[in-house]
Amino acid sequence: MDRSNPKNQKGGELKNESRRDFLKQSAVLTGVALTPSVAIKAADKQWDEKLAEALEKIPLKLNINGESKSLMVEPRVTLLDLLREQLNLTGTKKGCDYGQCGACTVHVNGKRVLSCLTLAVMQDGQKVTTIEGLAQGDKLHPMQEAFLKHDGFQCGYCTPGQIMSAVACIREGHAGSEDEIREFMSGNICRCGAYPNIVNAIVEVKNGGRKV
Ligand code: FES
Ligand code: FES
Repeated sequence: MDRSNPKNQKGGELKNESRRDFLKQSAVLTGVALTPSVAIKAADKQWDEKLAEALEKIPLKLNINGESKSLMVEPRVTLLDLLREQLNLTGTKKGCDYGQCGACTVHVNGKRVLSCLTLAVMQDGQKVTTIEGLAQGDKLHPMQEAFLKHDGFQCGYCTPGQIMSAVACIREGHAGSEDEIREFMSGNICRCGAYPNIVNAIVEVKNGGRKV
């Protein structure tokens, strides 16, 4: 064959290409370990199997808003996702999902936590309170009433987290002055800028001396 002839060179390349394609297809069809990439794929498969094993659901008992729950949960699930996606308690909001906005604040044993940064399985046996559990039936919690009275919200997205934090702020003894309230509420971001009204609501509840 005359290799100097461009027509023949092209023909040669085409032949080589089809041989490569054939080998590739054979390797795929037969699963023969021909290259390091096949070994990598095998390692990936092993890793996937190990991951699936680790992600198997495990039992979890929680008291949520006064109700005992026995659940099966993957170890990677956050308390926020458990509440919203498995228990349909969507009052707790997902804002940043990175611990920066406070929208996901709930109480665990009466203390505020960011549920987006809390693994559900680490709370086994604990008592969780969400915004849905704050009112007593139809009777709103004093902090909910105060937020309504003082217009402590506009769009309302941050509000459940603000209210849960506000209750904790008073319980912690961090509502001694407006400055202190601002400092201890600084982890709760409000894009609508309802801050002055939120502070007014907290001051009213604090000064009203009602039990929170
Ligand atoms: Fe948890 Fe923003 S969603 S801090
Ligand atoms: Fe809209 Fe706070 S009321 S983000």
